[in-house]
Amino acid sequence: MEVWVRCIFLLLLQILTGGHGDILPLVWGHPRDAGKIIGGQDALQGKWPWQVSLCIAEDGHICGGSLIHEVWVLTAAHCFRRSLNPRLYHVKVGGLTLSLLEPHSTLVAVRDIFVHPAYLWGDASSGDIALVQLDTPLQPSQFTPVCLPAAQAPLSPGTVCWVTGWGATQERDLASVLQELAVPLLDSEECEKMYHIRGSSLSGKRVIQSDMLCAGFVEGQKDSCQGDSGGPLVCDINSSWIQVGITSWGIGCARPHRPGVYTRVPAYVHWIQKTLEENRSDAYGCHSRASGPHQILLPVLLAFALPGSL
Ligand code: ARG
Repeated sequence: MEVWVRCIFLLLLQILTGGHGDILPLVWGHPRDAGKIIGGQDALQGKWPWQVSLCIAEDGHICGGSLIHEVWVLTAAHCFRRSLNPRLYHVKVGGLTLSLLEPHSTLVAVRDIFVHPAYLWGDASSGDIALVQLDTPLQPSQFTPVCLPAAQAPLSPGTVCWVTGWGATQERDLASVLQELAVPLLDSEECEKMYHIRGSSLSGKRVIQSDMLCAGFVEGQKDSCQGDSGGPLVCDINSSWIQVGITSWGIGCARPHRPGVYTRVPAYVHWIQKTLEENRSDAYGCHSRASGPHQILLPVLLAFALPGSL
């Protein structure tokens, strides 16, 4: 049976049986794994309308992702360590929680998965980026895409951006509301130095590669965490939300001198465009709060090429 048919069938069965069976959780994700970004806060409905949950029928939520187009989700390559079989995955769109019963949310099947060829399937590998092609296009009322930056756009250290996700919390509480956290972008050399403080196993090795971006706090306490991977790190630039990073890795979560490491999206804009074109999708268009919907934000992209780099 198709995975999604089985999924829906099990869900109906669970509703009909009063929801007490162990058949399928009513929320994606085992309660043990449900939780928050560390040190974040509940997001309001509709604030991050590109945020999606990537899920597997058996295990529920495994990663975050972001909608960049009506059929395309940007996420991390390592989310597919378990399998590259598109039939195993679903994308939950429009939700504030991981509940499958949430109104205004949609579960969409996956048609194809494109993992960047530079990704080596190991810890802290470069190229931790993937594109998910949905089986059916979303309707404009169902989502808002996030904007992509200009290729190679430099990012200024100190810029405060936002990371969102349903990943783990220290407290491991069961709330499954989408979390948001403001994190400053960090200078890559500073981040590299931090990772070598009491990091003897890393000595001599370059940790922060040129396609990575650090964001967070020297003192720790606030960070993305397991389950947030694949989700977006976005900055409000000239009244548009631009995705500059994809949650990728860290050593532990929220530890001092171990900030979150994100895939640097400007390094992959050409690959994203090429993948969309080769698979017959129009160029992406995101919504600018400044100048109205459905606009290709070239001026914004150019304006984003700010002085100073990480
Ligand atoms: N790799 C993790 C995941 O799969 C994300 C880790 C982010 N870690 C951090 N300290 N910011 O969900």
